Amino acid sequence: MKTSLILPILPLPFVFSSPAANHDARTNAKKYLIIDNDWGITDFTLTNLALLSKEYTLLGATSSTGITWALQSGLHALQSIQLLGGNPPLTSCVPVQKGADYPILNNPGLYTAYQSIFGIVPFAGAFRPQNDTAEALGLSDPTSGDPQRIAPAAFVNGQAPNPRDLAGTDAAYFMIQMVRKYPGQVTIYCAGPMTNIALAVRLDPLFARNTAGLVQMGGYIDTDLYTTVPGDILQADINIDLNFKFDPEAAKIALTADFPRIQLVGNGANGVFLSPADIADITARANNTFTRTLAVAYPLVLPLWDQTALVTLLYPDTIRNSTVFYVDVDVAFASPFYGQVKPYQELLKSTVQTLRNVTYVYAVDEQRVRNLVKDAVVAPPTRCQG
Ligand SMILES: *[C@@H]1O[C@H](CO)[C@@H](O)[C@H](O)[C@H]1NC(C)=O
Ligand SMILES: *[C@@H]1O[C@H](CO)[C@@H](O)[C@H](O)[C@H]1NC(C)=O
Ligand SMILES: *[C@@H]1O[C@H](CO)[C@@H](O)[C@H](O)[C@H]1NC(C)=O
Ligand SMILES: *[C@@H]1O[C@H](CO)[C@@H](O)[C@H](O)[C@H]1NC(C)=O
Repeated sequence: MKTSLILPILPLPFVFSSPAANHDARTNAKKYLIIDNDWGITDFTLTNLALLSKEYTLLGATSSTGITWALQSGLHALQSIQLLGGNPPLTSCVPVQKGADYPILNNPGLYTAYQSIFGIVPFAGAFRPQNDTAEALGLSDPTSGDPQRIAPAAFVNGQAPNPRDLAGTDAAYFMIQMVRKYPGQVTIYCAGPMTNIALAVRLDPLFARNTAGLVQMGGYIDTDLYTTVPGDILQADINIDLNFKFDPEAAKIALTADFPRIQLVGNGANGVFLSPADIADITARANNTFTRTLAVAYPLVLPLWDQTALVTLLYPDTIRNSTVFYVDVDVAFASPFYGQVKPYQELLKSTVQTLRNVTYVYAVDEQRVRNLVKDAVVAPPTRCQG
């Protein structure tokens, strides 16, 4: 089904940062990046990739609730930076800010009710029932129950960083502060639900338009035949689009805000995997915390979703196919499509809502993405960016 996408394929040049654009007067200013994510144990791949960029400077990492609660997720981001060491330590140039505990409206109770009406969502992230056994064994980050709970076993070496080492503000406010400081220069990369982005959009009416743009992982189109039909739970899980389904209202607020550019990396991020040969390759090339952890903790059956989407921002020439259309997000709770993206062409889009057009990426240079991810763990960044 991935090859029969409803839209004609327009190989449009990507506008964020083509090499030519880097040198024109308007974009000569430095490019900054904030990564907002529901971080997990192997997401040091993201911070490593960003800190190795010669084009973008990583201003900070912010955490959201998605796969786990925002506190545990923020501590994963913090540990990723701490593991890099450095002199001065990289934690001094990449602060980690915790984000909102709960989505705009959603919560475990509502999600359970939703599933009783529309069927089981194959992966429910932080809304999965609490499982103390799995948390104690390091097999799961905290789910349901108290969002302030920390499960140390799920961290590298079984040790959670001290929550006091998280920086002292909220994710949404940090993004606002950075965009005010560097108007037009900060790109927000979001690899989790868009809760913090939506809060920033609502807090500061100038926030979205004063960023350089939003790149968002997720927003699958036409994957229903994977999620519902073939009886393959793994395929259903892979195609569930948790980032949207978990906080549909935030997705709608973010994607209808006046960001100068929005790039969605949905279907295009879904086919890129690491193989056992890739793991053998990285462990042969280096024996460090990152290669060892990736080797034991990265589930090879799952795509490199977040890494792929980030690579399309950092290295736009990895985009093989993209097109532009307008998007809305279904926010009707009483809908089996609650949280799903609805694409429109210009002529048929809503006239009473201000929908935004997005660049939709659905094919990437998969080998290049894999290589960049592997290089980022084999030779991790060692110093703060300029
Ligand atoms: C985009 O994808 C389609 C379908 O897979 C393919 O036929 C086409 O050649 C691709 N375009 C580019 C520019 O790679
Ligand atoms: C809780 O996690 C353990 C360990 O992964 C697993 O064996 C058990 O089936 C889980 N319990 C439930 C109710 O899912
Ligand atoms: C990799 O390093 C770890 C920790 O220093 C060590 O225990 C392990 O034996 C090393 N593995 C190889 C293959 O050298
Ligand atoms: C997308 O929207 C922007 C801003 O409104 C506009 O400049 C651009 O031409 C649009 N692109 C397409 C392909 O519609």
